[in-house]
Amino acid sequence: MMDKNFIKEINKRRTFAIISHPDAGKTTLTEKFLLYGGAIRLAGSVKSRKTQKHAVSDWMEIEKQRGISVTSSVMQFNYDGACINILDTPGHQDFSEDTYRTLTAADSAVMVIDCAKGVEPQTKKLFRVCKDRNIPIFTFINKLDRAGKDPFELMEEIEKVLGIQSYPMNWPIGTDGDFKGVYNRQKKRIELYQDGDHGQNIAKIVSKDLDDEGLADILGADYYQRLKDEVELLDMAGDDFDHDKVQNGELTPLFFGSAMTNFGVEPFLESFLKLTYKPEARNSNQGLIPPEDPNFSGFIFKIQANMNPAHRDRLAFIRICSGKFEKGMSVYNSRTGKKIRLAQPQQFLAQDREIVDTAYPGDIIGLHDPGLFKISDTLSEADPSLKYEKIPVFPPEHFSKIIPKNSMKRKQFLKGIQQLAEEGAIQVFKRPNIGIEEYIVGVVGVLQFQVLEYRLKNEYSVDIIMESMPHRYIRWIEMEGYDPDRFNATMDSMLVEDHEGNPAIILQNEWSIGKIEDRNTGVVLKDIYKKD
Ligand code: G4P
Repeated sequence: MMDKNFIKEINKRRTFAIISHPDAGKTTLTEKFLLYGGAIRLAGSVKSRKTQKHAVSDWMEIEKQRGISVTSSVMQFNYDGACINILDTPGHQDFSEDTYRTLTAADSAVMVIDCAKGVEPQTKKLFRVCKDRNIPIFTFINKLDRAGKDPFELMEEIEKVLGIQSYPMNWPIGTDGDFKGVYNRQKKRIELYQDGDHGQNIAKIVSKDLDDEGLADILGADYYQRLKDEVELLDMAGDDFDHDKVQNGELTPLFFGSAMTNFGVEPFLESFLKLTYKPEARNSNQGLIPPEDPNFSGFIFKIQANMNPAHRDRLAFIRICSGKFEKGMSVYNSRTGKKIRLAQPQQFLAQDREIVDTAYPGDIIGLHDPGLFKISDTLSEADPSLKYEKIPVFPPEHFSKIIPKNSMKRKQFLKGIQQLAEEGAIQVFKRPNIGIEEYIVGVVGVLQFQVLEYRLKNEYSVDIIMESMPHRYIRWIEMEGYDPDRFNATMDSMLVEDHEGNPAIILQNEWSIGKIEDRNTGVVLKDIYKKD
């Protein structure tokens, strides 16, 4: 029998990833979401942010002190009857493959763009992974309190650079640093911007209809006329709002606002909740598994090592896909066939980690991991053979050759790099047929090299020599009858095999990719590699 409360809890769930290029305002916006959800009383103000940078998102104080923050944080808050899970995707130097993997656990994404900078490289990379999954993507154009690009130009840029159409839900008035507010196209009203309290408190919105005569006085005749013209143009020339397209990730609802001053944050949350649904069924080797399936199941998308160096424990993050999670329950790991008791699960509420008793589809929990889990493992209460789709391998952008300083330590060295590769911290490659033993490590963000060095030394007592390579791109090779000795590569590239023996090529220049395709008939080159 279906438990009514169980269904209610599922229907309440929304799980989204927040993506952006560093400095676009992701942390600030996250703080404001938490503020509206009542999870924190005071969002970081302009003043206090200087002293507590990344106050809420970086809950891993220990890692921060070491300067090796390898986390993507997870936060849960309640807003207007919904239970929202935010998956943060770390941006600065701590950009890593984990950042990409985190996106596989989300049901939708919120993309933050700086209005003066437009679409930046990291946004592009993260967007691409979301687009591949066809999940709904919402765009928040931030920092409207400052001068920015023309909004039509931003729309064009989103379409050109990201390949997605956008539908402005509101439209800004004054984008040259003279921000007056926005026109809300759904509610057909003006929401006036009032600065003053630096976003310490919940913003006030003053409503006025677009035809209200008094608007010319409030906005100024020029601003009023321009707004009317622009909204008319949008209504006439722009696309219609199509909810199905939003749902399939073909149209992104566009919101203009200013996270720092709170402007536009609450209307954004309201629309987001209206336009998104509860967690969907997930694909597995047994077909689609709906969240309402009474048996608990989920998959591991991230393994966080050394949360607490004193205990040297690991935390495996699981995205719950079906059923109800209860503390202490026993589940199968379908990779090993073994049953595991989930004793000390943790959940993440704003600043705190707490022991969780129950959790529902859409939720993310952290499981204590003494080495039991790998990325992509499926855990299931009832079915030892259930497997969710494997998480793809994402392209490293930096490569180094590594060897142990002391050749006597070869065994520990190999064990170390193998375990770190399994955890997903690094990717390990070899060159085929060269007759000498040589290891190449690939990472998404350069900080991972330091993590590697640090962890090999601390956990495996191995010092290494690392030689950085000029390669920046990788493509996995799919080709009938592939033979590395006969493959026609370019001068700037190198043929390799990943740790499972899959052929790949690393390159220094992006334009070589096309050349390689031209020179090798029938070759398919893939930058995101999906294994069966
Ligand atoms: P991130 O997580 O995407 O990296 O960005 P974060 O929120 O840390 O914001 C980056 C900078 O942009 C911060 O300034 C932040 O205060 C500012 N910011 C965020 N939203 C807005 C906005 O709506 N308007 C304006 N004008 N600025 C905004 P900072 O000087 O780097 O840090 P701090 O001194 O404020 O701590």
